[in-house]
Amino acid sequence: MSQAPIITIFGISGDLAGRKLLPALYHLLSHGTLSPLVKIVGVSRRALDQKTLLNDTELCILEQDKICNPKGVALLNDALELITLDLEDRAGYDALRQHLDEIDPTNQRERIFYLSIPPQAYGTVTKLLGESGLNTANCRLLIEKPFGSDTESALRLIDSIGEQFDESQIYRIDHYLAKETAQNLLAFRLHNPIFSSLWDHQSIESIRVRALETIGVENRASFYESTGALRDLIQGHLLQILSLVMMERPQSEDADAVHATKTQLLESLSLTSVDQSVRGQYEGYKQEVKNETSFVETYARITLQSSIERWQGVPIILETGKALAEKTNDVTIQFKQEHEHQRNRLIFLLQPAEGISLDLLVKKPGFDNELQHAALDLSYDKEFGTQTNPEAYERVLMDAVRGDQSLFASSGEVLASWRVVQPLIDAWTQDAKGLQVYQRGSEGPEE
Ligand code: BG6
Repeated sequence: MSQAPIITIFGISGDLAGRKLLPALYHLLSHGTLSPLVKIVGVSRRALDQKTLLNDTELCILEQDKICNPKGVALLNDALELITLDLEDRAGYDALRQHLDEIDPTNQRERIFYLSIPPQAYGTVTKLLGESGLNTANCRLLIEKPFGSDTESALRLIDSIGEQFDESQIYRIDHYLAKETAQNLLAFRLHNPIFSSLWDHQSIESIRVRALETIGVENRASFYESTGALRDLIQGHLLQILSLVMMERPQSEDADAVHATKTQLLESLSLTSVDQSVRGQYEGYKQEVKNETSFVETYARITLQSSIERWQGVPIILETGKALAEKTNDVTIQFKQEHEHQRNRLIFLLQPAEGISLDLLVKKPGFDNELQHAALDLSYDKEFGTQTNPEAYERVLMDAVRGDQSLFASSGEVLASWRVVQPLIDAWTQDAKGLQVYQRGSEGPEE
C-alpha cells in the first residue's frame, strides 16, 4: 500500500473539521509526516468555496500556533478538493466512488472515510457507503463519538455498521486516547516498579479523573441539546482514560489484547448511587440553546466502583463541566495515609500543560520541624520540548493511515461504557430532579 492515502471527510464544513481536522492535516503536511501526494476529499451538503475554507483554517492555526506557514497551507490547498453530496442520496455515493476510482484507478491507496457528521447520520452513511461498493478491503472508517446515545442505540449501530464493514476496518475515535499523557498512563504504571507495586486498593485511597472546561457550548447548541455532559465527556473520554489507569497488564502490546483488557475493566464498573450523582447546568445555557425548558446537564460528577478484587472499596470519581473557572484535564491518584501528617498524590496532567506531578510532604527549611507540601514535577514542555508532541487529531489521523487500532475504542469497550452510565441516562432524561444551576466561571454546583 502507498503512503499517500485518500482521506474523505464527511462534514468538512463542520466545527470539528475547522478547529481540529484541517489544522491537523496542515501540521502533518508541513512536517512531512503525511505525503504531499495525499488526497483529501472534503464532503459537504452545500457548495463551499475552498479559498474561504482555507482562510478560516489559517485563522484558526494562527490562533492556536501564533504562526502559520504559507508552505503548509499551499500543500493543504493542493491536496484538498471539495465536493457536495446529499448524505441520504445513494446516487451521490456512486458518483463519489467513480471519483475516487479516477484518482486511484488501481485501488492501491488506503481509502479513509472520516465521519465528522451528526451521530444520527452514521447508520445511513455507512449503509450507503457499503451499498455503493465503497467498503473495499483497503478502506477504513473513522467515526467520531458519541457512538450511539445509549446502550440500545449503540448495539443497533454496531450491528448495522457491522453489516458493511469488518471490525478491523472500524476506528471509533476517542481523541483523549491520542493525547500524549494519556498514552503515558499505562507506560508509566507498567515500567516504574515503585508505582506498579502500589497500584491497588491496599495503597490507593481514591481515583479521580476530571475534564473541566471554561468554554460553554459555543455554536454546538443542537449537538449538545441531544448529548449533555454525561454522554459527551463521561461515557467516552473519561471512561477511556480511567480504563488506562485501572486496567490489568495486557497479555501483549497488540491492539486486540489491549482492547480485551480494557473491556474487562470497563465491565467491572458500576455507579455507587444514582441519587448521589451530581448534575448541573450553567446559568444562561437555556437562552444560549434557545430552549427555556432544557434540563440538559452541562456538568456531571459521578462516583463508580469496580468489582475487581484489586480495586475493592476504592471510590472512582469522574467529573466534567463546561463554563467553569478553569480548563484542566487530569487524573489524581490519592494514596492512603496512616495519619494526618502523611499525604501523597500522583497527578497526571493531560492538559493544558502536560506533565506528571507527585505531591509530597517535606520538611520546611529552617530550625523548626514544620512540614510543607512540595511537588516532584515533570513538565513535558521542559523535558521534551513542544515539537515532539503531536496534537491528538494528528495522532488519530496518522494511526488510521498506518492501520493501528490501539488508540481507538472497540465495540466491546463502547458497549461496556454505555452500560456504566445507562442508569443515569434513564434517570436524567426523565426530568430535571436535582439539576443544580451554577454560575459561569464558577467551580460548578456546590457539593
Ligand atoms: C469533545 C466534546 O469530544 O471534546 C467537546 O464533544 C469538548 O464538548 C471537547 O469541548 C474537549 O476536547 P479537548 O481536547 O479540548 O479537551
